[in-house]
Amino acid sequence: MSALKMAALGAAVVGLSAGLSFAQSPLERGRYLVDGMAACGNCHAARDPKGQVIPDRGLSGGMDFDTPAFKAYAPNITPDPDTGIGKWTDAQLGKAIREGVRPDGSIIGPPMPIEFLREISDADLAAIIVYLRAQPPVRNAVPKSAYMIPLPPTYGPPLANVQAPARTDAVKYGAYLIAMGHCMDCHTPMVKGRLDLARAGSGGRTFDGPFGQSLSRNLTPGSAGLSNWSDAEIERAVRTGVSRDGSRLKPPMAYDWYKNINAEDMRSVIASLRALKPLPFAGQ
Ligand code: HEC
Ligand code: HEC
Repeated sequence: MSALKMAALGAAVVGLSAGLSFAQSPLERGRYLVDGMAACGNCHAARDPKGQVIPDRGLSGGMDFDTPAFKAYAPNITPDPDTGIGKWTDAQLGKAIREGVRPDGSIIGPPMPIEFLREISDADLAAIIVYLRAQPPVRNAVPKSAYMIPLPPTYGPPLANVQAPARTDAVKYGAYLIAMGHCMDCHTPMVKGRLDLARAGSGGRTFDGPFGQSLSRNLTPGSAGLSNWSDAEIERAVRTGVSRDGSRLKPPMAYDWYKNINAEDMRSVIASLRALKPLPFAGQ
């Protein structure tokens, strides 16, 4: 074979593999979302008594959320037929993740961030389901959650034909990713037990855990928020939990999942944060 042909062949192979890496399979897309942007494991991963993730127990649940309004437990979402979601159909699993309704018709309560997960597109939901089904089944019976507050009868009308915004519109696609990453679930103040979405992004929620207490910060632009931050500083905080001044940020933000967000998606997330309405910090 001549050198010229070799070069041409090499170029073709490079072009092909670049194309393939862009067009992910549903399984790869599902892995990317579950283990990255959507950070399902931040709540559903099995943890030891110190709160450290036990990797070989996968998404078998058990983490508890103890608040005055509820004592909730993250369920086992591995395909174990008896203690997980093994007996659920794809449609049932999709309805649970995106609409908060279990196969028996019961409503899924907080802190499962259904209000935000409702935005997931049909294609991304299908990919998430493919990935969850591909996980090894782990047997782990998790207690039932108890709610002292009434749960909503529904999170909204049934969903179908949900499309993601075009990636070329970084602000809109970033907002889609921010919903998937349920950033505003933590970075929005609560009024009477409900998120005050008119002040989305202005922070002010407190979280208690083995780490002590943390207070979510203001992600809106403006002097009270991220206006003085460079893109690289925001990216470092989201991926590694290091604040602008170099101090270590506390849980429960899903740094260990968000570190897997790819460069293009990170740019969109930041573009979308920068497009928020500037608001004063909701905490003190
Ligand atoms: C902030 C924590 C949190 C995050 C993030 C989260 N979940 Fe949940 N999820 C929960 C809790 C808590 C429940 C149970 C609520 C209840 O008991 O009503 C739940 C319930 C579920 C259920 C119903 C299971 C059952 O047996 O009832 C499924 C399925 C599920 N989540 C899948 C997911 C997937 C997939 C993701 C990521 C796209 C995700 N969750 C992200 C906390 C979370
Ligand atoms: C489960 C709750 C939770 C989620 C989800 C969450 N955060 Fe946070 N975030 C926090 C808390 C709490 C802090 C402050 C931690 C501290 O002060 O130690 C924080 C800090 C930050 C900081 C650093 C701000 C500063 O002033 O130091 C940035 C930037 C940030 N979050 C962005 C995001 C983005 C973007 C997302 C979604 C991709 C997100 N967060 C999702 C709870 C959360």
